Amino acid sequence: MTFSSFDWVVALPKGRMMQDAYRIFARAGYPLPAAAGERELWHAGEGVAVLELRGGDVPTYVDLGIADVGVAGRDVLLEAGRDLYEPVDLGFGACRLSLIRRPGDGAPVRRVASKYPRFTQAWLRSRGLVADVVKLSGNVELAVLTGLADAVVDVVQTGSTIRAAGLVEVEVLAHSSARLVVNRSALKLKRAVLWPLIERLREAARAGG
Ligand code: PRP
Ligand code: MG
Repeated sequence: MTFSSFDWVVALPKGRMMQDAYRIFARAGYPLPAAAGERELWHAGEGVAVLELRGGDVPTYVDLGIADVGVAGRDVLLEAGRDLYEPVDLGFGACRLSLIRRPGDGAPVRRVASKYPRFTQAWLRSRGLVADVVKLSGNVELAVLTGLADAVVDVVQTGSTIRAAGLVEVEVLAHSSARLVVNRSALKLKRAVLWPLIERLREAARAGG
């Protein structure tokens, strides 16, 4: 199997944003092939292949040119720090990256846990703060509850996770939503395919819904 036989390859994030991603491509006039079997990793359609990835891997696949385009949250892009063309704010997946602590904890931050260690380190530096950053992979709020860290940097969407944990959002560090990302050389080599796609997705995002 070679993916280069497809006109274009799109990388989509598994999980919360997947359905919205399928929906906006369809509304833009590019209905994407969906999973036929339960454990399918990728789907072939008319000239297009869809790769189902962990969200954090989308920038990697697009930057290395395996996928021409992808959908990724701005939070993930900030962490990845890759040089991707980011032409469209797709509008869904709105959330924020925030500093989260125990209520009333005003002590200096000494150890921060996060799925976003690079972003967290850069933010600490920009504030002139020195603290250890511990990389975790999920349920990061537990780090504060258990005393592993005295703060976490994590996604807040509805706020229900931190509320249930009895934690508070101390500061919003970045706002995020889903973005279309494009490989820079594919943008030139496949411009006949990719520019109309970008334009149609931009219109679909503007129309909303
Ligand atoms: C994400 C995120 C927060 C939560 C925010 O966790 O890390 O914990 O959603 O959403 P909310 O404000 O609407 O509660 P998720 O459970 O998706 O994955 P995880 O395993 O990385 O924690
Ligand atoms: Mg969570």
